[in-house]
Amino acid sequence: MASTEPRPRRAGDRAGAILEIDLDAIAGNFRKLAERVGSNVRVAVVVKADAYGLGMAKVAPALYRAGAKTFFVATLDEGLALREILPRAQIAVLNGLVMGAPADFAKAALVPVLNDLGQIATWQGYAARRGGAPAMLHLDTGMARLGLTPKETQRLINEPGRLEGFGLALILSHLACANEAAHPLNDTQLDAFRAALRRLPSAPASLAASSGMFLGSDFLLDMVRIGAALYGVNPIPGRPNPMQQVVRLKAKILQVRDVDSGESVGYGAAHRIEQPTRIATIAMGYADGWLRSSSHRGSAHIAGKPAPVVGQISMDLLTLDVTGHDPATLIPGSYVDLLDERYGVDDVALAAQTIGYEILTGLGSRFHRLYRSGGTR
Ligand SMILES: Cc1ncc(COP(=O)(O)O)c(C=O)c1O
Repeated sequence: MASTEPRPRRAGDRAGAILEIDLDAIAGNFRKLAERVGSNVRVAVVVKADAYGLGMAKVAPALYRAGAKTFFVATLDEGLALREILPRAQIAVLNGLVMGAPADFAKAALVPVLNDLGQIATWQGYAARRGGAPAMLHLDTGMARLGLTPKETQRLINEPGRLEGFGLALILSHLACANEAAHPLNDTQLDAFRAALRRLPSAPASLAASSGMFLGSDFLLDMVRIGAALYGVNPIPGRPNPMQQVVRLKAKILQVRDVDSGESVGYGAAHRIEQPTRIATIAMGYADGWLRSSSHRGSAHIAGKPAPVVGQISMDLLTLDVTGHDPATLIPGSYVDLLDERYGVDDVALAAQTIGYEILTGLGSRFHRLYRSGGTR
């Protein structure tokens, strides 16, 4: 006898939302950038913060297969996790030796990025006892965030013995305003970096990240360090995005209701209904990374048609104005598109008054995640 009871759901069906991550698109973005910079410039990839929220365990091997050889993470733990995944890659830890003892780095063949003279002395002392494993050096050329201050760089220039006894795999600096091509600080930093490089022991040099590599060939030096552009964020804001979108996010419709004029929707009664409106409630909220700052802003798409977000974003839910949408597309349990090729991370970021980086790294843990590669899912 046929049962009428709903069947138990599989994980993908149980989740409120599905996040699809296109590993082929990430690899394609890597290849596109590598082609752009040419064979004399190495493209290192930045996979910190779990590959910008997309899952380092899947993303890093895809990049390695695409030809990436140097990987940057922020923390020692990220480096140790990545070493398990990629036994042969060069892995550098941006946040430096404060994260752990030299032996912690050396044991896993992780390259620390030394950020001050104290760290240089510590690494040199370790190298003297245990042999000179290479390190990288970060010079601050105008961002006042991380790396040797200009004064420390000057001391290092005056006392080059501080760098003896270990190899320098890279000297790097980071641009503060690379996403604004006309910002004068870009050239100021390039000049300061070049001046320091001329007076320090010879080593490969790197200044540009995603946006910096579009500032012109002077900025490319020996290596670019690319994160956001790999993951589909537009490195040249205000101009067409040269990168392929990498993520698709779709979430379930939970309920649909008709709301009359004079009523309101959501917390704070913040959205007043002025004419009869159909509202769809979606399984997506700020606990999933859909920022509350995008309340009343941006839109989802249903069968390709925009549905504006109305009312406050709550922890697990958001509400869409779906007036005029085909009722056949509004069945509870069916999906609305929140992120896709035509409405990407930068659009969502604009609605939330933030940047694509924050949208990606904030993507929640409740989604069912699907990775596409080799044309499959
Ligand atoms: C030192 C350093 N290099 C490279 C990157 C990668 O930057 P992007 O994601 O803009 O490519 C970052 C990111 O924050 C960084 O801090």
